[in-house]
Amino acid sequence: MTARHPAPGELEAIETASRDELQALQLQRLQWTLQHAYDNVAHYRKAFDARDVHPSDCRTLADLARFPFTAKADLRAHYPFGLFAVPRQQVLRVHASSGTTGKPTVVGYTRGDIDRWADLMARSIRACGGRAGDIVHVAYGYGLFTGGLGAHYGAERLGCTVVPMSGGQTEKQVQLIEDFRPDIIMVTPSYMQVIVEEFRRQGKDPREMSVSIGIFGAEPWTDAMRRDIETSAAIDAVDIYGLSEVMGPGVACECIESKDGPVIWEDHFYPEIIDPETGEVLPEGSEGELVFTTLSKEALPVIRYRTRDLTRLLPPTARSMRRMGKIVGRSDDMLIIRGINLFPTQIEELVLQQGQLAGQYQLVVTRENLLDELTVRCEVAPAHLHVNRAAIALELQHRIKSLIGVATMVDVGLPDSIERTLVGKARRVVDKRPK
Ligand code: DLL
Repeated sequence: MTARHPAPGELEAIETASRDELQALQLQRLQWTLQHAYDNVAHYRKAFDARDVHPSDCRTLADLARFPFTAKADLRAHYPFGLFAVPRQQVLRVHASSGTTGKPTVVGYTRGDIDRWADLMARSIRACGGRAGDIVHVAYGYGLFTGGLGAHYGAERLGCTVVPMSGGQTEKQVQLIEDFRPDIIMVTPSYMQVIVEEFRRQGKDPREMSVSIGIFGAEPWTDAMRRDIETSAAIDAVDIYGLSEVMGPGVACECIESKDGPVIWEDHFYPEIIDPETGEVLPEGSEGELVFTTLSKEALPVIRYRTRDLTRLLPPTARSMRRMGKIVGRSDDMLIIRGINLFPTQIEELVLQQGQLAGQYQLVVTRENLLDELTVRCEVAPAHLHVNRAAIALELQHRIKSLIGVATMVDVGLPDSIERTLVGKARRVVDKRPK
């Protein structure tokens, strides 16, 4: 692994500014955003008026807590373009997130928004060790999903050579990686595992691939998964976070020199952590729901957007801006099995710690006699095919029971028995309970 640390002159001034400078900029941009939303979006005007707050009431950053939240349901209620704060003619591009049911949520960008997004993605790729002249293989999906185009524009902005491969066609991914010899790959961590498997299937050593840095995000992944990918592909695995409602990828990104949680690009996004039940802002360092207010977005400013992502804010390290901890899970992904709350990432840690298992897993929830049952499906690693699979299953079952406290069934299948997600986010939970 070749950590590429930035030379001081390579950073933007704001990345190393004092907290005072940063907060002054945040306040000025926050006041602009609140006014912009109030003046141009009927929904925000109504919501602020109903709470009896006005943009001019925001005199300090803490005053933001007086303003109402925005939820995904608000975007849906104003489908497709009702929350845009500029005339539709000024919207250069839309993206949409599919969601599992109902209408997608639509987001829009002005020319300035696209430009700032490219800048922030370039900043993110640089934080991950990317430099002008690198070859970047983008295997995030292109299309309505923000991953592909977001990564693409950022890599171009940094001065890289972009290979817009998109997701799927795993054999071709391997062929292009071998032929074009990219320095960086940008892809979901779960699909990176599939690419690594494909190298092996073809009798090739994934550690021999030219790639030295992987920029992974769009779905929760644990430090255990990071170690697994770093070892199997001999790369640095760096975490990038974002969501379409707030911008897309590049809201926060880890730095390769510290790998201690994504740095929130606080000059453009103001984070808060709230209690998901009461909506109260929690003290710095507490775990809760991440909430973002955009500070520079023109087409779709969002005020206190509830991400449903559970994490904590951490103090600055490699940059002046605060970091976020790894996402534990989304509040809507939490399973309650016999009264015990459980996130798929907790199971992921345990699966990846057990050497005889491959990194793939799936949680199947069923209901028997009014009780929810959880079956953990995983696969034996090809190097351990000779080991008794029932014994491996028993060991995992025991560790889940003693470390998480949940009784589960564990099914250890043969390699490749779990369906791989080739495009988009891995499907970790299959819910078979009657609706
Ligand atoms: O997933 C944007 C993105 C693309 C981020 C490529 C990073 C890389 P959405 O489809 O709107 O946008 O989904 C956003 O994905 O609220 C999180 O739950 C999850 N997510 C995104 N990045 C991470 C990450 C894109 N690094 C939702 N770790 C978010 C954990 C993540 N979860």
